Amino acid sequence: LSEDIFSKRQITRTLVFTVFTAALGSFQFGYDIGVINAPQEVIISHYEYVLGVPLDDRKAINNYTINSTKELPTDPYLGDSIPASLVEEETAASASLVTMLWSLSVSSFAVGGMIASFCGGWLGDRLGRYAIKAMLVANILSLAGALLMGFSKLGPSHILIISGRSISGLYCGLISGLVPMYIGEIAPTTLRGALGTLHQLAIVTGILISQIVGLNFILGNHERWHILLGLSAVRAIIQSLLLFFCPESPRYLYIKLDEEVKAKKSLKRLRGGVDVTKDISEMRKEKEEASSEQKVSIIQLFTNSNYRQPILVALMLHVAQQFSGINGIFYYSTSIFQTAGISQPVYATIGVGAINMVFTALSVFLVEKAGRRSLFLIGMSGMFVCAIFMSVGLILLDKLAWMSYVSMVAIFLFVSFFEIGPGPIPWFMVAEFFSQGPRPAALAIAAFSNWTCNFIVALCFQYIAKFCGPYVFFLFAGVVLAFTLFTFFKVPETKGKSFEEIAAEFRKKSSSAQSPKAAVEMEFLGATETV
Ligand code: GLC
Repeated sequence: LSEDIFSKRQITRTLVFTVFTAALGSFQFGYDIGVINAPQEVIISHYEYVLGVPLDDRKAINNYTINSTKELPTDPYLGDSIPASLVEEETAASASLVTMLWSLSVSSFAVGGMIASFCGGWLGDRLGRYAIKAMLVANILSLAGALLMGFSKLGPSHILIISGRSISGLYCGLISGLVPMYIGEIAPTTLRGALGTLHQLAIVTGILISQIVGLNFILGNHERWHILLGLSAVRAIIQSLLLFFCPESPRYLYIKLDEEVKAKKSLKRLRGGVDVTKDISEMRKEKEEASSEQKVSIIQLFTNSNYRQPILVALMLHVAQQFSGINGIFYYSTSIFQTAGISQPVYATIGVGAINMVFTALSVFLVEKAGRRSLFLIGMSGMFVCAIFMSVGLILLDKLAWMSYVSMVAIFLFVSFFEIGPGPIPWFMVAEFFSQGPRPAALAIAAFSNWTCNFIVALCFQYIAKFCGPYVFFLFAGVVLAFTLFTFFKVPETKGKSFEEIAAEFRKKSSSAQSPKAAVEMEFLGATETV
């Protein structure tokens, strides 16, 4: 690691504490993604109990809903139809009701995320720049969601869980914009990438912890599943208390509120009392640019030629992240491992969670060395190769038993490559593309596209898998290849650059796509603007 990054007292105690506190929100995001997988069986059986499904039918439904791979080996992910010999018509109706309720319990989270990230544009403008207050207010949602789920055993649990997860999704949608923005604003330029990846590190930690505490012998059992779901309340309370000790974003104080003294005070706390003139002069430049900038709405991001190129690249990064199929792995890994012939799929899933975390931690260090663009490209190329091996493993499984290991290793590597670049980078890189004026709108629309694609994958993966069979990952390989080429041609490097320099990079990229005369004019305009 280069010395100048981690020495010179850039990492102060306040900075670590503040980033940790903010990232507790991202932890919740990951926890909610992973928490619903392990206790699936026990919660479904509770739904059946609440819905009054007779005991005999319950067993048949469970075979259909949960162990579809065991009952119906030809249909690995979904289960075709209920074999008439196995269950009566009435059971089939209950089964489809339970399946629908379960799908809603899982996906309502992403719907909440979509709604919140969309409203985030408006909220971001009012509350969002006041990040500490916004995170505090958002915790009310987290607490409400956790309580609804924590007490879901006492009432109509399916309704309480679906509403609890939607509300928790609202919280996660808000913080998926807020946390990267806040961290991006308080981080020193040289640490922006490394600290930015901590959002993702907290997400994957949340996923792993939820997979572990969700194991049957810990909380994922009939007695304690509601504690597993309600545990988030503790996180919300702890984070709310810690937020009182975090400094407000100096960028916000200086640029939006014109409070130079307060901004300096906040910066001094974050930088440990060292000279903050460089930060202030960078912010001054940004402020000058912001004051000449008009207020930017989401629509203007697409109509104004200055923003069109960066916003398209921003959206593409998020779409690429989700359409790489990563959440296909996180939502369905157990059944994929089962199909691939692995005997302990639940532990293989935890293995994925662990590898996921290790490689995210690695990217925290890599990102300031190798740069965002190159890591994104390396990650996507690696995922392309792995996706091919994943399908090859599944296709040849009938002929060669050891192919199950090929699939397993390919899945592990797929996740590792994802976390080297495509996982963490979009979440903080978008904040680097835009200056004060358009940043909240850009982050909101980027997060919205991420959640929408997440929802689409969550909803459609099992149908696509059913349609394509073992060839499913070829499809994802094709998609990943297309996005790799896009990144190669369109995404600029942002490492170590100020916001103005990044804007200039974009001007260069878009001007090269225009006529030479226009390009010269653009260069000239760009030069005069940044002087
Ligand atoms: C990224 C994605 C999220 C995914 C996670 C997996 O944060 O945005 O959808 O579940 O990575 O590590």
